[in-house]
Amino acid sequence: MTMADENLDDVLLIERERWPDGPPHELFRRMRSECPVHWTSRVPEFPESAGFWSITTADDVYTVSRDWRTYSSERGGIVAVTAGFPLELMRAMFIGMDPPKHDRIKALFQAGFTPKRIAGHEAEIRRIVVDVLDRLEGHESCDLVVDVGQAAVSRVIGSFMGIPPEDDAIWAEMMNATLGASDPDLNPDGVQGAIEKTVPEIFERCSKMIAERRENPTDDLTSVLVHAEINGEKLEEHEIVMGFFLLVAAGNDSTKATYASGMRALLENPDQLQLLLDDPSLIPSAVEESLRMFPAFAHFRRTAACDTELNGQEIKEGEKVVMWYVSSNRDATRYEDPDRFDVTRNPEHQAFGAGGRHFCLGTALARLELKILFDETLARYPEMRLDGRPEFVESAFLNQLKTLPVRLG
Ligand code: HEM
Repeated sequence: MTMADENLDDVLLIERERWPDGPPHELFRRMRSECPVHWTSRVPEFPESAGFWSITTADDVYTVSRDWRTYSSERGGIVAVTAGFPLELMRAMFIGMDPPKHDRIKALFQAGFTPKRIAGHEAEIRRIVVDVLDRLEGHESCDLVVDVGQAAVSRVIGSFMGIPPEDDAIWAEMMNATLGASDPDLNPDGVQGAIEKTVPEIFERCSKMIAERRENPTDDLTSVLVHAEINGEKLEEHEIVMGFFLLVAAGNDSTKATYASGMRALLENPDQLQLLLDDPSLIPSAVEESLRMFPAFAHFRRTAACDTELNGQEIKEGEKVVMWYVSSNRDATRYEDPDRFDVTRNPEHQAFGAGGRHFCLGTALARLELKILFDETLARYPEMRLDGRPEFVESAFLNQLKTLPVRLG
């Protein structure tokens, strides 16, 4: 049987073999047109984990994203398969909270991430990226994921949080193992191992940094969290720890994913690469197109807080509702020829979420980092080419490459 005549009712969307090389775009295309709110009845690797609804069109993702009363982030976790990750930890991050708790903490974090504050870091971010590229001098080839993307974004978020540069690699490794827990290369200890070993180590290191900032305040974001007050109240210790965790995790991961996928698309589409080389002012548009086609997170999830109905489909209270950005960003009702990578498109998209309370906090930072990463990489290595097979992280949550081998010149 080919995929074209497979009965969608029988499809278990996140079966591993469906994602050998990233998201199953053809399957998502069928779902959008034939069964836009689709039920996956069980999760093969985690039989105890109940099934979930898949939301695949841009309109429906928009609806779910903006209705936190019906679709809760707090009730059941924020990813399709929580795989034993303790719910109380997810709920201690503001990405796993509903209003009013969420609003209170997010407001505090937002103060550190205004577009103006981020723009103030432009020179520093460029210096970090240039420094990372300088380290490639004398090399003929490299892995753009590890040697450029990871190295640059770890230092950027590290500098915001006050992490010393010599600790960047260990933080990146711990975050990759936790977020990419299903990939044996990123996390050799298995999902349970990550929960029992890596997560406690992360917390220990967070707590240590927090204790240091209590003693000796600095001007980094960790200090801001430790000393912040909302309506005269300080954040609780676990809120600071989980806030720190959320920022370091988000900062380490997503931006490098979009950088690597965007660079791959450019190297595979030399005509598009040439457009950017001829006219670097197209880079911000290429960044948006990379975000659209390769959203760093394949999905985030909500849980129905009451019985409801979406696009003609009944959804029962307590059921999981998964918003697939990898699908909604290629919805043909929004984009002409959605699978074509077009650096002049400058699209709107849902890579940062589709609005509503949980819209990404890091958009200004991510956009600036991506612009500088593309700018500097292309200016220095206009002759770069692919040099081996890029490989995806094994995950239905992280939509990212774990390796992208290139020849530099
Ligand atoms: C290409 C880069 C990035 C992408 C594609 C991305 C994507 C997303 C998405 C889809 C959400 C929404 C989750 C939901 O609706 O439940 C989100 C939330 C969030 N992102 Fe990002 N992100 C990126 C970069 C960053 C960076 C650099 C930071 C900060 C250092 C960051 C911090 C956050 C935080 C704190 C939230 C939670 C917001 C909330 O719950 O109110 N992100 N991100």
